[in-house]
Amino acid sequence: MLQLRWFVLWATYCIAIVTCDKKWWQTSVIYQIYPRSFKDSNSDGIGDLNGITESLWHIKEAGIETIWLSPIYKSPMYDFGYDIADFKEIQPEYGTMQDFENLIREANSLDIRVVLDFVPNHSSNESEWFQLSANRTAGYENYFVWADGTPDPNNPGKLLPPSNWISVFRKSAWEYNPVRKQFFLHQFVIGQPDLNYREPRVVEEMKNVIRFWLDKGVSGFRVDAVPFLFESRPEDHGGKYPDEPRANILETTPDDYEYLNHLYTMNQDETYDMIYQWRDILDEYESKDGKPRVMLTEGYADIKYVMRYYGNGTHDGSHLPFNFEFLNNINNQSDARDMKFIIDKWMTYMPIGRTANWVNGNHDNKRMASRQGIDRADAMNMLVLLLPGVALTYQGEELAMTDGKVSWEETKDPAACNTDDPINYNKFSRDPARTPYHWDDSNYAGFTSGNKTWLPVADNYKEVNLKAQMAAAKSHYKFYKDIVALRKTNTIINGDLEVKVISEPVLAVMRYLPNEPIVLAITNLSSSEHTVNLLEFFRVLPENMTVYASSIAAKLQKGERISTSRLVLSPHDAIVLVSSA
Ligand code: GLC
Repeated sequence: MLQLRWFVLWATYCIAIVTCDKKWWQTSVIYQIYPRSFKDSNSDGIGDLNGITESLWHIKEAGIETIWLSPIYKSPMYDFGYDIADFKEIQPEYGTMQDFENLIREANSLDIRVVLDFVPNHSSNESEWFQLSANRTAGYENYFVWADGTPDPNNPGKLLPPSNWISVFRKSAWEYNPVRKQFFLHQFVIGQPDLNYREPRVVEEMKNVIRFWLDKGVSGFRVDAVPFLFESRPEDHGGKYPDEPRANILETTPDDYEYLNHLYTMNQDETYDMIYQWRDILDEYESKDGKPRVMLTEGYADIKYVMRYYGNGTHDGSHLPFNFEFLNNINNQSDARDMKFIIDKWMTYMPIGRTANWVNGNHDNKRMASRQGIDRADAMNMLVLLLPGVALTYQGEELAMTDGKVSWEETKDPAACNTDDPINYNKFSRDPARTPYHWDDSNYAGFTSGNKTWLPVADNYKEVNLKAQMAAAKSHYKFYKDIVALRKTNTIINGDLEVKVISEPVLAVMRYLPNEPIVLAITNLSSSEHTVNLLEFFRVLPENMTVYASSIAAKLQKGERISTSRLVLSPHDAIVLVSSA
């Protein structure tokens, strides 16, 4: 008995140490702000930095500790800021460097950290670097990926691109530059020439970009499009960039990105080392002032490639390579087995000692509530917030905002415009997920006090908006906020995870830690009622638990005591139960 006591004391001591040991980024909710669509402070219909600063109260109120801003740098906006003309300047539409410094100051005073987007794969074709390189100015010749064209055998005098590579946004990834008389590579739009990471000066320039923003006080970076950083070298393929083989995916045309298997333009081995070098910079800063910095990396790739970003045996890499499993592999038809499968998948592949993360959406995909269905929005928020590690929230997910309607005439996204297809453009368009944030039910959803917006406001804003959801007795927002608060508990910060398929539509996620209240998140994904006996699945559960939070349409209410051996779930319920310690 005495031994048991000592063990318990010791365990409590260890837990205390582990709790203190967790760095801020390991337990944070990271809220993605798409600055153009968040809040407009100067009535021009475009969101801006001062708009974000004015809105920090919302972040604080929701209990969120970290914001990530999509690009705010000087850009001609062919890809809405992901085409950067100057990596160290602010886009004038968004404000000034003073506005940015003010935002950082205000955020920090509220204990909110700011993470910026770092877009290393390409710059804008309107950047000074590109002009200098096109002119072969000494020192800049190799800043981009340049190659000679090949003579067209059927059309003398005409040049064909150096290889068959296709841009993510369709059509050839090579564009002829008449000044340099060579082709340059652009894996995204023509206005986004790929930087050449085999040129040491580029590597150094981009490291300096990282240092520049760290010196301004940012807490880390979301690193864009990392799988595209390197391409195979001509030297390894008989002096020519190698053609990529066909992927043989049905219904793709030669202009479609999916037409080819991207063996030579993605996930090259050199990529990982670059990530490790950037990590070293963040670690250097941390070792100087003791403040941890974070790197999140964006890579849509096979999970084995994604896991390599975490690091290898000798080097640390990305703190948080984005986990897009919910985004890519779960839809409104998925059942509890599908959900468990993808949760287990990440936890199984993730190297030991690393931190997991869970993503429901971002500015590149249909909004979560549109993809998964409004009925499932609370369940999806509950899952990302209660699984171990970091939860990512794309602006509006806390309100279950759905996609806006954007006509062909109003469409801005190059991914849609490049289809030249006024009928099917929406299959590719990312605009519907980028329509302005719904603050309230006033004109333009309170996004602007002007008389226009850069993308139309979604027409359901009168019902779906922050002000209404803050005032309602129950709302998506209130459910979200309650769960964010629960993340501060020891159980969620340090607890173990157990995921069970109770039945085809019912999924239960348990988080538990000795001597701490157990947290059980349960969802019924179907449109019929289900009665479940949780004790058959989790032997450690007590007979009675308390409802801590319940989704908007749920019959069970906060504070109700329920019996775990006979829990009645209404259609689409998402419920969080807690035990008394
Ligand atoms: C990333 C961004 C996307 C952008 C692309 C090119 O996928 O999230 O918005 O178009 O990279 O920078």
